[in-house]
Amino acid sequence: MDRLSSSARVMIVSDLDHTMVDHHDSENLSLLRFNALWEAYYRHDSLLVFSTGRSPTLYKELRKEKPMLTPDITIMSVGTEITYGTSMVPDEGWVEVLNQKWDRNIVTEETSKFSELKLQVQVVDPSLAETEQRPHKVSFYVQKDKAQDVMKALSDKLVKRGLDVKIIYSGGMDLDILPQGAGKGQALAYLHKKFKTEGKLPQNTLVCGDSGNDAELFTIPEVHGVMVSNAQEELLHWHAENAKNNPKVIHATERCASGIIQAIGHFNLGPSISPRDVMDSSDSVSENFEPGRDIVRFFLFLERWRRAEMEYSELYLAGLKALSFPSSAFVHPSGIEQSILDCTNALRRSYGDEQGKQYRVWVDQVTTTEIGSNIWLLKFNKWEISGDERRGCIATVLLSSKDLSPSEGFTWVHMHQTWVDGAGAKDHTDWVC
Ligand code: GLC
Ligand code: MG
Repeated sequence: MDRLSSSARVMIVSDLDHTMVDHHDSENLSLLRFNALWEAYYRHDSLLVFSTGRSPTLYKELRKEKPMLTPDITIMSVGTEITYGTSMVPDEGWVEVLNQKWDRNIVTEETSKFSELKLQVQVVDPSLAETEQRPHKVSFYVQKDKAQDVMKALSDKLVKRGLDVKIIYSGGMDLDILPQGAGKGQALAYLHKKFKTEGKLPQNTLVCGDSGNDAELFTIPEVHGVMVSNAQEELLHWHAENAKNNPKVIHATERCASGIIQAIGHFNLGPSISPRDVMDSSDSVSENFEPGRDIVRFFLFLERWRRAEMEYSELYLAGLKALSFPSSAFVHPSGIEQSILDCTNALRRSYGDEQGKQYRVWVDQVTTTEIGSNIWLLKFNKWEISGDERRGCIATVLLSSKDLSPSEGFTWVHMHQTWVDGAGAKDHTDWVC
């Protein structure tokens, strides 16, 4: 991971289903709260790691369904696949480690003798039938009341066959068989070791989970941990038996991503108030220039303005104009160049046009570079959901902090947007900025 030149301030390692992602929150508000917090205060010097039981295929499906950020590292298939960056480059070294004492054929042969085990297959879409069977993961469904006995008997059988495996029960239904050295915890230990050799061990690591396959995460030395309020019985039970007296692990009172934010605050890992929880951003005076935070706030303003969650006032528009150079321009993703005046007019017309609709805006992967004294280049992806449509653009922005104090923010010099491949708006006039 060379995005950061020194140790990450915080590394968050989070499970996805029912931890980062709340499947009972159709508006995804807790996830969006986390996103805004992360991009405003953490992205520039911290690392985001997703650690999921899902295969790469189902992970990508989830990304299409939910407003998720892009992590720095993605650990999939219960700690058996590690990839880096946006292009998800696999860690070949990890594959080597997992090949030890692993023979997938013996596992399938022995498991076929258990009628209680039902192979995980997707019935809805045949092209996805066996996506959850992976090179170092064989997965079944098994009823809750049978799980313990089956696990014991199967483990004995596999030991007799000379295999050293790990059997994990999650969500009261899923049974995964992995090499002994695999699993979410071991994958994290491997990453820690790697960072340590590079002299870049994160200053703090926070692990977050809700179910059985997350338990191992809480055993890694030095980490802080949060079990979200909605954690499964099997994880709470594991915790009561194994980690009850560890003050570094908490059971949050909030669900999913809100529980993660709660833990950030509890362990004092850094700012824990999401920009989404602050109505008037002028309240929060800061001492440093943080251009990423201005970007997050601006697009939050856009969402609230179009949803009419704030009063209409010409003052906002005048304020925006005052924070731009007269020669500033915005290149709309359709290719049309607009002046600041055109932009303000477009904003004026769009007040309340998304009122009562499921309209949300979020930014992802905000990167910031001070390219000269008082001049900043930002690059990020900006996404919108409106009803069923999701659209996104890649944006570059030039900001200047010349002659301003941090509390005044930045002057916008230039913004250029381009549709993300395949995710352009159907109606270009619907995209304000
Ligand atoms: C995810 C995977 C599944 C696995 C489960 C528990 O749901 O898709 O294969 O069994 O996580 O680890
Ligand atoms: Mg989960």
